[in-house]
Amino acid sequence: MLASNISSQGRSLSSQLFSKRGLSLLRNQCFVDGEWRDAASGDRFEILNPVDRTVIGRVPDMGAADVSSAIDSAHVAFKNGPYSKTTAKERSDFLRNWYNLMNNHSEDLAQILTKENGKSLAESRAEIKYGNSFVEWFSEEARRINGEILQTPVAGRELLLLKEPAGVAALITPWNFPFAMITRKAGAALAAGCTCVIKPSEDTPLTALAMAELAAAAGFPRGTFNVVTTSPKNSALVGKELCENPKVRVMSFTGSTGVGKILYRQCASTMKRLSLELGGNAPFVVFDSADIDLAVSGAMASKFRNTGQACVSSNRFFIHDKIHDDFVAKFVARIKSEIKMGNGCTEGVTHGPLIKESQLNSVSELVNEALSKGAKLHCGGKALPDLGPLFFEATVLTDVTKEMKIYNTEIFGPVAVINKFSNEADVIKEANDTPVGLAGYFYSKDISQVFRVARKLEVGMVGVNEGAISCTEAAFGGVKESGIGREGSHHGIDDFVDIKYVCIGNLVDQK
Ligand code: SIN
Repeated sequence: MLASNISSQGRSLSSQLFSKRGLSLLRNQCFVDGEWRDAASGDRFEILNPVDRTVIGRVPDMGAADVSSAIDSAHVAFKNGPYSKTTAKERSDFLRNWYNLMNNHSEDLAQILTKENGKSLAESRAEIKYGNSFVEWFSEEARRINGEILQTPVAGRELLLLKEPAGVAALITPWNFPFAMITRKAGAALAAGCTCVIKPSEDTPLTALAMAELAAAAGFPRGTFNVVTTSPKNSALVGKELCENPKVRVMSFTGSTGVGKILYRQCASTMKRLSLELGGNAPFVVFDSADIDLAVSGAMASKFRNTGQACVSSNRFFIHDKIHDDFVAKFVARIKSEIKMGNGCTEGVTHGPLIKESQLNSVSELVNEALSKGAKLHCGGKALPDLGPLFFEATVLTDVTKEMKIYNTEIFGPVAVINKFSNEADVIKEANDTPVGLAGYFYSKDISQVFRVARKLEVGMVGVNEGAISCTEAAFGGVKESGIGREGSHHGIDDFVDIKYVCIGNLVDQK
């Protein structure tokens, strides 16, 4: 049975807006210490549907003191609560329960996700499936977090490496994948035996609160799984509290490189373990041997997933000059025939709006600046106010030069910037000429080139003849200023465990 203490005010607001599905999981309070709570100040902030900027919920605007109390609760639960005494099998069972519940409520979760993020229902459904695969995976991995017994160099000793949960984990998650970025972190943290305090983006907290309801129903003991919501006004102070509170031992953040650097500095004072999944500037290279249709399909998936608002999105296309015009023509034709923007809840809509005004302004300014400096427009190029305040057309630009801001900026919007190249060494140099290195993609049928280029790209993840590469089995993360650590895969656990070396000495042989 799901706990259900949504206020009557919240319920009537929600029922008007979520007439069909999603209602049962809408919450308008934070989840701390096993109960639904308001901010001590009583303050709330509004959550807007990016399609039309209507209010879809009001959630607590927690401040640093509220969050400190959530950390206390997670700390008590970590030190002495029932979760601290669980076996790996029991943690696996809790995660499996959560996975099953989220599976059963996947349509409700997708509806909430679409309302607050704007992505199409098809994309939300795909995100719930993808995100829940991390919970399933970590329910399995929980039982395999084994230590080691080492060879000893000294007789009469046994050397052990134990893996222990690191402590309270603070998980700060973004608005572009409000479900999957929580499961990828929380699944690993909970499998390791950590307790967590989750701060979702101020733009998309409703999905996180619905997940908390299901985590409670899955049986996670009090204090194990906490969700705190804050408005942009309090966000920096709350982030600082999560970084500087000594009871938090792990900080895991997904978001921009700029914010990641601030958190990195703030975490230094308490020497936390850090997992940072930051911005990208992914190259998408198509060599002349490539299958052009396959490359165009990859470009569609990689560029326009979530209306271009993904860290792994292709940001700079480099197309061999022999096939450049063919690629551009086919890409533009596919965009025109396949992309239908609108309200994500409407049948047939494939892509939603951008998340907020600052995002729309940033994309518009980048495109306008490039056009004013001579970039060539092949489709799109402007906002679509008739659809709603935050829509921007799927856009293709060629003849983009390094002097244009769009060339060096993570666009985070549905804009493809295409350049020509003629030589492998030059294009690799160009692809790597950026301080970040999250994902990179290339298309080639030349097997030697495949190995050569895959090794030379300075990124954490490479798609070869493939534009959609994320999955729970793979290690997700970047190099250079794209971050630290890996999420998903069996490596995803590493950030949440400490290794303790135990040396047992002076053991005697049988007398
Ligand atoms: C991101 O790019 O922000 C995460 C997307 C993913 O997990 O594929």
